[in-house]
Amino acid sequence: MSVCIYIGKNRYIFRCACVNKVAQELDPSSTAEMFLSDLQVGDLKQVLPIERKSFTTPWSAGGFRLALRNPDVMALKISKNDQLLGYLIAFRQSRELLIANIAVHEDYRGIGLGSWLLTECMERAREEGITYAVLDVRESNKVAQSLYRKLGFRVFGRRAGYYHNPREDALVMGVGLKRRNDGP
Ligand SMILES: CC(C)(COP(=O)(O)OP(=O)(O)OC[C@H]1O[C@@H](n2cnc3c(N)ncnc32)[C@H](O)[C@@H]1OP(=O)(O)O)[C@@H](O)C(=O)NCCC(=O)NCCS
Repeated sequence: MSVCIYIGKNRYIFRCACVNKVAQELDPSSTAEMFLSDLQVGDLKQVLPIERKSFTTPWSAGGFRLALRNPDVMALKISKNDQLLGYLIAFRQSRELLIANIAVHEDYRGIGLGSWLLTECMERAREEGITYAVLDVRESNKVAQSLYRKLGFRVFGRRAGYYHNPREDALVMGVGLKRRNDGP
């Protein structure tokens, strides 16, 4: 179970297995709790504007629909009241999890939501017996790389010219997902 608890004065505590962060400087009028739950096709109206603001080569509505119909996909969202604040899409590929898309609404970045999405996704994958998580990230996307490093990901490869608009290399990052009783 993963919840966010409002503790007053625009401060929140995100509680899940690995994240416990107090967020500050949110909109003073926002006192609602944030929840993490499964992303649904009905959320796409709110996902697409965030997607288009976040990426120069955004996924299309069709791309999201296809992913959300795929039984091997794990799709999560964080919302507050009815507002969608962030989402993550990952593909289960045998014992490996491919983190394919993660974005947070620009007004809510830097307060722990990306960490919450990724931590929850890794925790669920671990519980399912998935042993490794992997992703691609633009070489210039230092914020995302910093998030991934914080959660244990390390660079182990590079795909030359992988991204377009602008053309850029991808760094390939991965992390082992050990269960608590798996031993060293
Ligand atoms: C990348 C992204 C998902 C991070 O989400 P977020 O909710 O802002 O991240 P968090 O608040 O959980 O921060 C996690 C870590 O990222 C790093 N980080 C976050 N904002 C940062 C900033 N403005 N500058 C530098 N590092 C930053 C920090 O290491 C932070 O950990 P810390 O707070 O313990 O220092 C978000 O910035 C985003 O949506 N970016 C556009 C889409 C994108 O680039 N997706 C990734 C594609 S590979």
